[in-house]
This record gives sequence, structure tokens and C-alpha cells, in this order.
Amino acid sequence: MRLKTAATVSDYRALAQKRLPPFLFHYIDGAAGTEITAARNVREMEAVTLRQRIMVDVEGISTATTLFGQTLSMPVILGPVGLAGLFARRGELQAIRAARSAGIPFCLSSLGICSLGEVEGELGGPAPWFQLYMIRDRAFMRDLLSKAQMAEAPVLVFTVDVAVSGIRHRDRRSGLTGSLAGQAWQAARRPRWTVDVAMRGGPLLFGNIAAALPEARSLGDFWGWLARNFDPCVTWDDLAFVREHWRGPIVVKGVMDPADAIAAVAAGADGVIVSNHGGRQLDGVRATVQALPAVVDAVSGSVPVVVDGGVRSGIDIVRALALGADACLLGRAWAYALAAGGAVGVTQLIEDLRRELANTLALTGCRTVRAAGRHLLDTGSGDQGMSTSTSGPNT
Ligand code: FNR
Repeated sequence: MRLKTAATVSDYRALAQKRLPPFLFHYIDGAAGTEITAARNVREMEAVTLRQRIMVDVEGISTATTLFGQTLSMPVILGPVGLAGLFARRGELQAIRAARSAGIPFCLSSLGICSLGEVEGELGGPAPWFQLYMIRDRAFMRDLLSKAQMAEAPVLVFTVDVAVSGIRHRDRRSGLTGSLAGQAWQAARRPRWTVDVAMRGGPLLFGNIAAALPEARSLGDFWGWLARNFDPCVTWDDLAFVREHWRGPIVVKGVMDPADAIAAVAAGADGVIVSNHGGRQLDGVRATVQALPAVVDAVSGSVPVVVDGGVRSGIDIVRALALGADACLLGRAWAYALAAGGAVGVTQLIEDLRRELANTLALTGCRTVRAAGRHLLDTGSGDQGMSTSTSGPNT
């Protein structure tokens, strides 16, 4: 298959597998433990059944929405994905270009290869959202937050589901945590990647962390630093620290429980992201679409609710909206597309998702994103209402 004919996320995944050294492909594709939750995210998403509606005027559908004061061409954000600069040359730059031209936000991971400064310096246009992990060294945190503030990142995504790192068996099997010689051997068998990324794509370091480790020469030096410096003592009180050093909206990522959603809002979060880190942290936890409705009910409209995990199509976006989400984050979907074809691949993915989203809205009788609500869910009870019109606000 060629990039041009790739039509689904599975197609991009297949191309990514061909192009990346196996240790990197499996870093994207893998998850914690025996990967039950990662598979569950996808399976339960697919199981959400929508109602087909007919005889509704759906000409001139709009997929646009607003979130945290920004206008988005559709309710989708390219979510934080660490090491994206290893999937294609300066991958974060390629992804933000694709996101900007499509009119959706890109969220830079604090573990990106490209730093905030590089992303900001290279390009004009809206700044990326920035994702933060809590690091023990609060002086380092303050510095990072002030860099994000200076880069005018409009939204801070505070990821809180990594009190400790998930145990990912695939990373051992694939050689990600193995020797450099083993990785070099894998790379030698992917000459296109070797030239594009390893030879021309440097420096291959964690750009946002590099200041803390000036003596670091390889990613291995950073892994060690991260293992020592991720803060397992974070509690809701630490949100106050982040708030003190951040003026814009703070969105807490990793909420799976309604009680945590309520606590996040009480602690001052401006939004929550229902996420289990794509199944990369606690294996065995429920799928995000299973957790979503209770979180939506718990926050009851006080802040936006975003969801990720298993979003693979425009239909999935409508499924998430129907369950009460305001928007979705993409993780693996854009990472595979980036590896498959750089900015061109990500652009093609986003365009296809938008086409599918508009198509699904039309076939469920909705002219806008706001119109897609719980009335779209086919609960299988057969009593979906006898009304001859759609029951949602078809605005
Ligand atoms: C991630 N994710 C992630 N999340 C985060 O907050 N900071 C990060 O640096 C990363 N890094 C990362 C790397 C890779 C390779 C993947 C696949 C994921 C999690 C990501 O933002 C998102 O929550 C999940 O990827 C969503 O699940 P799906 O869409 O991949 O199924």
C-alpha cells in the first residue's frame, strides 16, 4: 500500500510498521501489561451504536466548534505524544504544520524531541498547547512553565496518570529498553528512516528537558533522568503550584473516575480529559468510553470534557460526542500517520476524519457538532422515541 491509498488508521499503522525500526513502532503500538485496556478502548468505542436518522435537512453541515476560547474546524486535537521527532524528521514540527493548516490544535508533549522554542521559532501562527508532567525539581517546573507562557501556549494539559510509569512488556521485547547496538541493527534495516530521522533529523534529544541535563548525549541519559525525576508524590494540592505559574486554562488529563473529575474541578481545573493514556498505564482499567458518561454527569457542564483512547475514525468522534464529550484527542492515530508520511500523512488523516465526521453527522441527522448528543445512542431498547424529528438541538 502507498500513502495515497491509505484510508483508515489501520492503513497508516501498516505503513508505519514498514517504515519504523521495530523498537519505535512497538513503542507507539504497545501498551501496559498484556494490553487488555488498549484493546478495550478500541473495542468499546466500536461497540457504541449510533441511530440512523432520515429525512432531515443536513445541507451545509458545520464541523466547527469552540474550546477554551479557540475556534476549531472540528472537535479534535492532536494529543501529546512523546518522541514524535523519532517517527519522522522533526516530527513535532511536521505535525503542528498539518494541524495548523487544518485549523485544529496540536499539543506538544513535554517529552517531545522538538522543544517549545523550536516549534515557536520555526513557525508563525497559533502556538501549540503544551503538556506537562510533574517533575520533582520545582525550579525546573517553574522554568518550563515560564517557557510555555512565553511561547504563548493557549492551553496547558497537565497529565496526572503517571504517578509511576506503566510496565510495558513490549518495550523489552522490541529492544526499546535494550542495547543501542540492537537498535542500530534494527535501524540499519530501515534505511529510509535512518537517512530521514537518524542522519538528518537531529538533535535527537528530549528538547524540553535538555536544559536540565546539558551533559546528556543520548536518549538513554534522559530515560534515566526521567525515571529519577518523575514525581510520584503529586496530589491535588500541586495543582495550586501549577496555577501559580500558569495564567491560561489548565486541563487535567488522566481522569477516569467521577470522584476525580469532581476533585479536579474543585482544585481549579478548567477542563478534564478522560484518558487512560491509551492503555499505557494501568492495564485492566475500563475503556475511556465506558468512563466518559459518568465523568460528564459529574462535572455537569461546569468545564469541558475531552476524551481520548481508541479514536480511529470520524464515526468515533461522533460516538464520543454522543456520550457527552466536547472534543477528542488523537494519540496513536496521528503518530502512525506521521510515521507513514510526515506532514502529508497527518494532513490526509485529518482531512479524512473531517469528511467522515461530516458524513456521520449527516446520517445521524445533525447539522452541527453541538447537535450530537445522547439522543444519538442506540441503546438497543427499541424505545428510541416515536418523534418524527431528531430530538437534539439541530443547530
Ligand atoms: C502517548 N501519550 C502521552 N500522553 C501524555 O500526556 N504525554 C506524553 O508524552 C504521551 N506520550 C505518548 C506516546 C505514545 C507513543 C502514545 C501512543 C501515547 C498518551 C496520548 O496522549 C493519549 O492519551 C493516548 O495515545 C490515547 O489513546 P489512543 O488514541 O492512542 O488509543
